[in-house]
Amino acid sequence: MTGTPLAVHGLRKGFADRGTTVQAIDDVGFDVREGEIYTLLGPSGCGKTSTLRAVAGLERPDEGRIVIDGTVVTETGCFVPPERRDIGMVFQSYGIWPHMNVFENAAFPLKVGRAKVPKKEVRQRVESALAAVHLAGYEGRMATQLSGGQQQRLALARALVRRPKLLLLDEPLSNLDAKLRQAMRAELATLQQELGVTTLFVTHDQDEALSMSSRIAVMQAGRIVQEGTPRDVYQRPATRFVADFVGTTNFLDGTCAAGGRVETTVGAFDVAGDGGRAGADVVLAVRPESVRLHTDEPVGTPNVVKGEVERVMFVGECVDCHVRVGDAVWVTRQDPGLAARSGDGVWLELPADRISVIA
Ligand SMILES: Nc1ncnc2c1ncn2[C@@H]1O[C@H](COP(=O)(O)OP(=O)(O)O)[C@@H](O)[C@H]1O
Ligand SMILES: [Mg+2]
Repeated sequence: MTGTPLAVHGLRKGFADRGTTVQAIDDVGFDVREGEIYTLLGPSGCGKTSTLRAVAGLERPDEGRIVIDGTVVTETGCFVPPERRDIGMVFQSYGIWPHMNVFENAAFPLKVGRAKVPKKEVRQRVESALAAVHLAGYEGRMATQLSGGQQQRLALARALVRRPKLLLLDEPLSNLDAKLRQAMRAELATLQQELGVTTLFVTHDQDEALSMSSRIAVMQAGRIVQEGTPRDVYQRPATRFVADFVGTTNFLDGTCAAGGRVETTVGAFDVAGDGGRAGADVVLAVRPESVRLHTDEPVGTPNVVKGEVERVMFVGECVDCHVRVGDAVWVTRQDPGLAARSGDGVWLELPADRISVIA
């Protein structure tokens, strides 16, 4: 039967910790679609690894149901052990065996467990897995002689050698140095797409999540607080936590007025849509790159507020211009040609369709 590659429902897991219970997973549910990269994103300790381990069968949840490709693997009274789940996994530390060569490492999952794979087939499968991750020709090399990026790809080959229905990746790039990590993002996403393997990805790195995912679930304290495409999560954060965790955001407290307007201490702003029930307290969230800075007062433009430049930081392809507005400092991202210096008066335009209204 072909069902959803992965369906998780009502997952809960608590850990005893010095007399109290840490609720590592607190009613988590999500569905992963065929061929996508579905990402659990959140700060350290929010329950990402625990959730992934529950899917892998390395952790027994207290409650909940996990279905992999139409087969129930976890439910009250039912627990399929990890080796009988149709999954491949790459951990943060790749867990590559230093005393084995590349071939032996990749072949390892085929040599343990119940289903003995014939020798000839082992060779074929390993060769195709290594080819898939662009490591063909490296079979005889010791694993320790590979670069960080190559070890990363070997770990991936090993996870794929059993041709799993589902690939689980737990912070697979976090051990690489910054430059390689960035290159591997694109490489991993491309590989995943070529292989078409449905992937559950775990990371605390928002750039990684935004650039690689089909969909993202943002987690906070054991719960999923928002699910959506990278664009949804970035441009329409559902909570202040999401806006703050995923990228840099400026916040402005306000109160809804009639007709899609929100009153704040520095003025009233038009927002897209109806803006919310009149009288409701809201927070306006605006991304640094969404603020348009004017060095002359714009005439007839709505949603403009005056500020004073605190500092201008050149960061190469743009400048980060910090502007004091009332008693807050706004972070804005501007073209490097911006002619403004600290102490200058400027006008910040907040386009209505770039303001997120958070209830
Ligand atoms: N085996 C364990 N024993 C006790 N507490 C644990 C255990 N595993 C995880 N936790 C706790 O559960 C919470 C979630 O951990 P984890 O799932 O590893 O988070 P993340 O991967 O998002 O950093 C943390 O508070 C962590 O300390
Ligand atoms: Mg973790």
